[in-house]
This record gives sequence, structure tokens and C-alpha cells, in this order.
Amino acid sequence: MRILVTGGAGFIGSHFARRQVGAGHEVVVLDKLTYSGNRANLAAADCEFARGDIADADAVERAGAGCDAVVNFAAETHVDRSILEASDFIRTDVFGTHVLLEWARTTDARFVQVSTDEVYGDVAPGVSSREDDPLRPSSPYAAAKAGGDLQVLAYVRTYGLDACITRGSNTYGPNQYPEKLLPLHITNALDGQPLPVYGDGSQTRDWLHVEDHCAGIELVLKEGAAGEVYNVGGGEEVENRHIVQRIIEHTGADASLVRHVADRPGHDTRYSLDTERIAGLGWAPAHSLEDGLPSAVEWYRTNREWWEPIKASGDYSRYYELQYRTRLQTATS
Ligand code: NAD
Ligand code: TYD
Repeated sequence: MRILVTGGAGFIGSHFARRQVGAGHEVVVLDKLTYSGNRANLAAADCEFARGDIADADAVERAGAGCDAVVNFAAETHVDRSILEASDFIRTDVFGTHVLLEWARTTDARFVQVSTDEVYGDVAPGVSSREDDPLRPSSPYAAAKAGGDLQVLAYVRTYGLDACITRGSNTYGPNQYPEKLLPLHITNALDGQPLPVYGDGSQTRDWLHVEDHCAGIELVLKEGAAGEVYNVGGGEEVENRHIVQRIIEHTGADASLVRHVADRPGHDTRYSLDTERIAGLGWAPAHSLEDGLPSAVEWYRTNREWWEPIKASGDYSRYYELQYRTRLQTATS
């Protein structure tokens, strides 16, 4: 199979692209190389690469020539950035998805939309989101992803597109841009820098190893039924403050680095996914946090040449200053 992997220079997309090459597929990566896109993520992957925007129909047509399927990872992905400025989220996550759908409609390509548990909004203790639950996104990021999902479902119903959606939970592992909780805190801990915990840190996330996430997407690409949504959740729900404690243990950092800072506006308190549907296809996570977290810490410890240039870049420093300066000044430890 020849697969168009959009956003394949990012965190999850690059793991997926490598995995598909390893399985003997031809892979074409289409990536705009925004701040989180990184050619180094694909260094060991024998795939074609095209720099381009999924919102640009000509770029999609060129990169997609001869492809049987598209797996859409391309997105603006960080909640905190979407709170600062949301227009790129709408442009890529909604309009970009529409452009890809138009391409798939004219070429009959199979379509997998990589989405997130955040589209359901937060859920009460004891409740897990099922695929047919209403979408109640809280952040501009989650609302943009929900907009993309709804476009996909409309194209299935109206045009008979052969499309599925996966909704993954919080993903971690090597090559994740150090703005999300785990890579930010692991790299800060390794450097003796503050560990900003939003609010009291009692919010819960459901952690999923990147290889398990990619295995779920791969299975849905192969066997998912058109029009179906599949939750992909790690089933390991941990409060933020507890995962930060585990990072401190695995890095050997000083516990006094923890700073309780101003909370994120609209902060979702808990995500949890019911994964019965994808389990029915034969998927189950192979990694636990007990093994996955120390091995992720080890990756960041031994791959400083990957993340130090990112943290030294102008874009990163500007973002970090904007996001954390006031928060850290008024922090409690
Ligand atoms: P990432 O930010 O690491 O990568 C996104 C990639 O998309 C980058 O390479 C970027 O250059 C590219 N991109 C952005 N805009 C583009 C555009 N207009 N055209 C082409 N390429 C563009 O993100 P990630 O964490 O790897 O997430 C990948 C996908 O998985 C996203 O759709 C995200 O919503 C979804 N997801 C992520 C998580 C998570 O915890 N990271 C969980 C569930 C779902
Ligand atoms: P994040 O990695 O941004 O993922 P998401 O918002 O998609 O779940 O954040 C995970 C959780 O960690 C979320 O509850 C916000 C919290 N958080 C912090 O407490 N401190 C931080 O520095 C970051 C980046 C996140």
C-alpha cells in the first residue's frame, strides 16, 4: 500500500511513518514543518518527504499522487497555544481536514482521521467516554479537532467516503515536542528547571504509549469500518501531580522544583476512554506506564541533541516566556 501520512514529521506521525515503512508500505509524508515538525524525527525512515500545507489543495494533490490511503496527523495540537491564539487551529484542523477530504473524495483513497479524547470534554469520576457520546470540547484546540471529526463523518454520510476516526488519549514517548506535560517536565527536571503544575494538579489524564497509539491507528486503517469512530486509550489514569512525582523519581530531580502555578483557563479535569470497540478489533496496549515512563525518561536523558536545539530556539523561548513567566513569578511550591 502507498500511504500519505500528513503531519508525519511530528511526534506521533513520525512513529507511525517509521512503523509503516517497517511493515513494507510506501510512505509519503506531507508536512508543513511548523514549530513542532522536525525532519530529524524521520532521520531513520525510508520514506518520501514533501514540505507542504494540508490546507493547500495543490500540495495535497502532488504529495498524494498514487496513494491508496491517507492518515491525517497534521494539526495544531497544543491546548495552551490555542488559548493564546486559535486561528491556525481552525485553518489546519478544520479547513485542512476539509481539503484532505476533498482529495480523498476525488481519488477514492481510504481516510483515517487521527483525533483526540479532548473532543468529548471532561468526564465525571467513574464515567468513560464512548464513541457515540456528544462532543463537548472545552478548548479552541479541542473544538477545532471536533470540527474536523464532524467534517469526516459528514463526508462518509453524504459522499460514501471510506473514512474512520481514531480518538487517542494523552500520548507520550520519544520525539515529543517539549511543550506537553511529560516532555516539558522530563527535560526541565533533567536541567534542574521548575516544574509548573497547573492549579492543584488533581486533574487526571489517561496515558498512552506512542507505539500503542500507532498500533491502534494501524489496525483501524486496516480493519476499521467506514464511518466508525474508535477510541484508543491507555487505560492508565493518573493525576497530574502524581505523574510529576514519578518524573521526579525517575530523573532523580529535586522535589522542590515543583511549582503550583495559575490554572489553565477552561481546564478539563478528567479524560477517560471506553476502548471496548477497538478491543473488538484485537487491540490492547502493550506498554504500561511502569515500563514506558522510565524508558521515555531514558530517551530524553540520552538524546539531548534532539531537544536542546528546540529549547534554545527563539520560538520556544518566546512561547515559554509568554506561557510561564507570570505563572512562575506568582507560583506556590
Ligand atoms: P505534533 O504537534 O508533534 O505534530 C504535528 C505535525 O503536523 C507537525 O509535524 C507539524 O509540522 C504538522 N503540521 C501542522 N500544521 C500542518 C499543516 N497545515 N499542513 C501540514 N502539516 C502540518 O503533534 P502530535 O502530538 O504528533 O499529534 C498528531 C495528531 O495526533 C494530531 O492530530 C493530534 O490532534 C492527535 N493526538 C495527539 C495526542 C497527543 O497526546 N499528542 C493525543 C491524541 C491525538
Ligand atoms: P498537556 O500535555 O498540555 O496535554 P492536554 O492538555 O492535551 O491534556 O497537559 C496534560 C495535563 O497537564 C493537563 O491537565 C495540563 C497539565 N499541565 C501542567 O500541569 N503543567 C504544564 O506545564 C503542562 C504543559 C500541562
